Amino acid sequence: MRQNGFRAEEIDTGRPHPARIYDYLLGGKDNYEVDRAAGDRLAAAAPEVRIGVQANRDFMRRAVRYVVGGGVRQILDIGTGLPTSPNVHEIARQVAPDVRVAYVDNDPIVNVHANALLTGAGATGVVLGDLRDPQAVVDNPEVRRVIDFDQPVALLLVAVLHFLTDAEKPEQIVATLRDALPAGSFLVLSHATGDFADRSGAQAVYTNATATLNLRSHGAVERFFDGFELVDPGLAQVPFWRPDAPPATKPGEIGFYGGVARKAR
Ligand SMILES: C[S@@+](CC[C@H](N)C(=O)[O-])C[C@H]1O[C@@H](n2cnc3c(N)ncnc32)[C@H](O)[C@@H]1O
Repeated sequence: MRQNGFRAEEIDTGRPHPARIYDYLLGGKDNYEVDRAAGDRLAAAAPEVRIGVQANRDFMRRAVRYVVGGGVRQILDIGTGLPTSPNVHEIARQVAPDVRVAYVDNDPIVNVHANALLTGAGATGVVLGDLRDPQAVVDNPEVRRVIDFDQPVALLLVAVLHFLTDAEKPEQIVATLRDALPAGSFLVLSHATGDFADRSGAQAVYTNATATLNLRSHGAVERFFDGFELVDPGLAQVPFWRPDAPPATKPGEIGFYGGVARKAR
């Protein structure tokens, strides 16, 4: 069976996949033994990882509500992950039922599961695409069916850029995407960091995985927002980005930064 040009049998159950490790850490069922073993090694190397992925997910929810509350009606979510309730379109449509969402991920298993979940949802598209080829994502016909690049778009790069190495030029990739967005668009971004603890053990878990883990400092993550204006409170540790209630974790406990920014021009 072919899914958007990729064969479903390319799903590799012999190596851990970031999407499936993440699903396991979130308590999901769409993972294999190799992913669970990697997730357990990750939790041993970075004990806060389980609350960290939940905190990242909570950040994403608050950020989606923020941008949709601000009037955006289109979301381009690159690095979607396996379906996890509530999904981005469900969160967005609680605020505004007419939000359109294009989901893009390079993992065939995400594509298969997301397509199964979203069959018949006309305002939602699922694309097998790679962030490392941002122009192809922007030009993808299914993305174009869902997203009108003449109207403001919220671009979600949530917990995905750390799977790109510096050699893959992530800043240039974000700039290409930014240049495709009209004024009034938003960037919602989160990223893992080693600023608060030595996380080399966590990075080592990904050496055999289908993508490596590239931790970045506050300054390096902030540079991804070039050409955007960060909204308050700027790039923050995810539990501290506009929390709904006082965060249950202490500063420095969770190695994830998150921020939301608007493209003014
Ligand atoms: C940690 S999950 C994050 C899921 C979701 N964005 C969230 O934060 O809850 C990272 C996702 O990024 C995807 N991913 C990794 N590298 C990618 C790339 N080069 N292009 C597209 N997706 C990628 C993985 O397959 C995985 O589904």
